[in-house]
Amino acid sequence: MKICCIGAGYVGGPTMAMIAKQCPDIPVHVVDLNQARIDAWNSDVLPIYEPGLDEVVNEARGRNLTFSTRVDEAIADSDMIFISVNTPTKTFGIGSGRAANLEYVEKCARQIASVSRGHKIVVEKSTLPVRTAEAVKRILFSVSTGATFDVLSNPEFLAEGTAIEDLLRPDRVLIGGESEQAISSLAGVYERWVPRNRILTTNLWSSELSKLTANAFLAQRVSSINAISALCEATGADVDEVARAIGTDSRIGPKFLKASVGFGGSCFQKDILNLVYLCEHFGLQEVAAYWEQVVTMNDYQKRRFAESIVRTLFSTVSDKRIAIWGWAFKKDTNDSRESAAIYVCRDLLRERARLHIYDPQVQKEQILADLELAMSADTGVVSQADRQLLENNVSVEKDCYATANEAHAVVVLTEWDEFKTVDYAKIYTSMLKPAFLFDGRNILDRRALPKLGFEFHAIGMS
Ligand code: UDX
Ligand code: UDX
Repeated sequence: MKICCIGAGYVGGPTMAMIAKQCPDIPVHVVDLNQARIDAWNSDVLPIYEPGLDEVVNEARGRNLTFSTRVDEAIADSDMIFISVNTPTKTFGIGSGRAANLEYVEKCARQIASVSRGHKIVVEKSTLPVRTAEAVKRILFSVSTGATFDVLSNPEFLAEGTAIEDLLRPDRVLIGGESEQAISSLAGVYERWVPRNRILTTNLWSSELSKLTANAFLAQRVSSINAISALCEATGADVDEVARAIGTDSRIGPKFLKASVGFGGSCFQKDILNLVYLCEHFGLQEVAAYWEQVVTMNDYQKRRFAESIVRTLFSTVSDKRIAIWGWAFKKDTNDSRESAAIYVCRDLLRERARLHIYDPQVQKEQILADLELAMSADTGVVSQADRQLLENNVSVEKDCYATANEAHAVVVLTEWDEFKTVDYAKIYTSMLKPAFLFDGRNILDRRALPKLGFEFHAIGMS
């Protein structure tokens, strides 16, 4: 058995590294169009930051794990081909802003069709709209080379920041398909380290829909607790206490009840919009509206947080220095896709604040590119006024102390552990007074910080 994976991203890279680690006898070849990304996978500085990933890659790379751009060769050589390319929300044409862009998946299917000989198992790893496998099958089965295919859906449930642990001890592995033989081939790979009773098999469409549904339910919990956070601020209740109180009900459970400045990441919003589009396509308007509200609430939470900063700072942040701590969409990743920080900072920037940003893992170039993209989202171009703000009002700093010097406010936007152990007395001394501290992740000591002199604000507490 030989495996290849098209797409060396946040999902394809770690997942294949884990398979290669656990199955030393199976050659695993990860390919990508992006040469720079492949070069990074072959270097000491991997393209993604993920705790524990370096060790897994170092163990398998050069033994049975290869990274290259030789897509055709990898496909021709493999028995099992994972498709793990990105499926971003469409930004043009029919379904723009909602539907998934399946261009890359279709191109992969066509490439597999044209290069393959013999029998191949094609595995959808990318999150896809329900019934995409139908299109993939039709493309594959239209070949005239005599090659034959089975198509499986095997969605990934790893979360960034905990990917290695999630891959090592998954709650479940889901495999959807029609051919028993193909399913048991793929199950056989996972069985090397995942207990058999955690490997669930379903039909193709259930598997595709389960991934969208899992992400929709998780995001819904975050939006639900964030909705309650607004009510807590209005009533004097404390959202962390409410979360603890409801989370101890075993029917509700304690996870994914952390109020925040809003969820981010490449999946939640994209997958819900995809679900909404799917419902609309099938004429299920009420179901579509129900799920869309999860995204609406998330947008509201981000906007509400930025507005509350402006209001608290005496209704103006113009020309005020604001220290921004954290850019990644959650801790322990360098991924900033759809991070709440981007939208909060865009709003503050348009209020003409001077932003001094620090994140332990996200590079300066990425931060600037994210802001530029957010500022051009409505029209496709950055206006003259926004361009000036980007050039004159944004600095990226090397540590959090540098951001806070003579700042009016510190704003925590990612829950990095290092923000819990900062010397806050030193930060306080370096800031202008009153020194405002906004905790968008509810991770800081809300009793100790006011005693140091800070005017402290967190989510969902007044
Ligand atoms: C993954 C899944 O594939 C996506 O469907 C899911 O919803 C989120 O996670 P991710 O690994 O996070 O995507 O995406 P990304 O880090 O962008 O990696 C995708 C890779 O595929 C990129 O490196 C890109 O260069 C590569 N790619 C894309 C190809 O090699 N060929 C293509 O045709 C398109
Ligand atoms: C998610 C799913 O968890 C994973 O199973 C799927 O494969 C991909 O999408 P990911 O986006 O990597 O994973 O991270 P996740 O831990 O789910 O966090 C998503 C966002 O929700 C982050 O911005 C996080 O900060 C936020 N969040 C999460 C909260 O605000 N509160 C919570 O209680 C939990």
